Amino acid sequence: MEQNQKPIGIFDSGVGGLTVASEIMRQLPCESIVYFGDTARVPYGSKSRETVTRFAFEGLNFLLAHDVKMVVVACNTVSATCLGQLQQSSPVPVIGVIEPGAKAAVGVTQNKIVGVIGTERTVKSGAYVKAIKKINPEIKILSKACPLFVPLVEEGWLDNEAAFYTAQTYLLPLKNEGIDTLVLACTHYPLLAATLQAVMGEKVRLVDSAFETAVEVGRILERIGLKRSVENRPVYRYFVSDNPAKFIEVGERFLQRPIDPIDVIDPEVPYKFKI
Ligand code: DGL
Repeated sequence: MEQNQKPIGIFDSGVGGLTVASEIMRQLPCESIVYFGDTARVPYGSKSRETVTRFAFEGLNFLLAHDVKMVVVACNTVSATCLGQLQQSSPVPVIGVIEPGAKAAVGVTQNKIVGVIGTERTVKSGAYVKAIKKINPEIKILSKACPLFVPLVEEGWLDNEAAFYTAQTYLLPLKNEGIDTLVLACTHYPLLAATLQAVMGEKVRLVDSAFETAVEVGRILERIGLKRSVENRPVYRYFVSDNPAKFIEVGERFLQRPIDPIDVIDPEVPYKFKI
């Protein structure tokens, strides 16, 4: 297969990376996609650096075995933990979500007080703080880990009372500090956007990195001459490591298109299908 005809690989710990997939589908409608969500081992965000790195290499190897032309690490936790290592060992470009998200936040904030919410590992890594400060050192950043958001999203509880009260508990301290921008530094959080906006109020702008990441993917494909041409119809394939029914239920609700075909794989043994 010609290099530019090959699919883009997208990797996440679960269903949340579909936020990035959806934006790539919208901005780059000719590109085929192979998506892998490691639903058997989600969440990554509460795990150690070593474990996340091991899972990340397994995900990367799985996608490379599918002959992808580029890998997008949709997962913030992985991007914050070991993006550089993945980039160094991959024969194809590997794009993360943190720099695009940081860039978007810097472009949006007016009062220069930015909130960043993510998993425990992402917040602990300080990756967003570094990326934002690198662009504008004057910005004040308040970070908060919100570990209960991921199970809420995986369960499909996006806008019920449990989601609202959890969001209120996590976010009111940030709201009281006067942030005008809230970076959703986790794949899963954009699915809770309506609830988060209701808690923060209309004046606070929510930023997710999906849009900027898709722009960056398009820019890099263009630069290296691997953009797929207009006359091609894209092919989308989905792989998960567990519970495809749940992934389809939550994912289709969000993606607004069928998740088909979907296969269940064992990420520790790339290409070994569970069923
Ligand atoms: N994909 C992860 C992230 O963006 C969230 C889910 C998890 O903890 O694995 O940080």
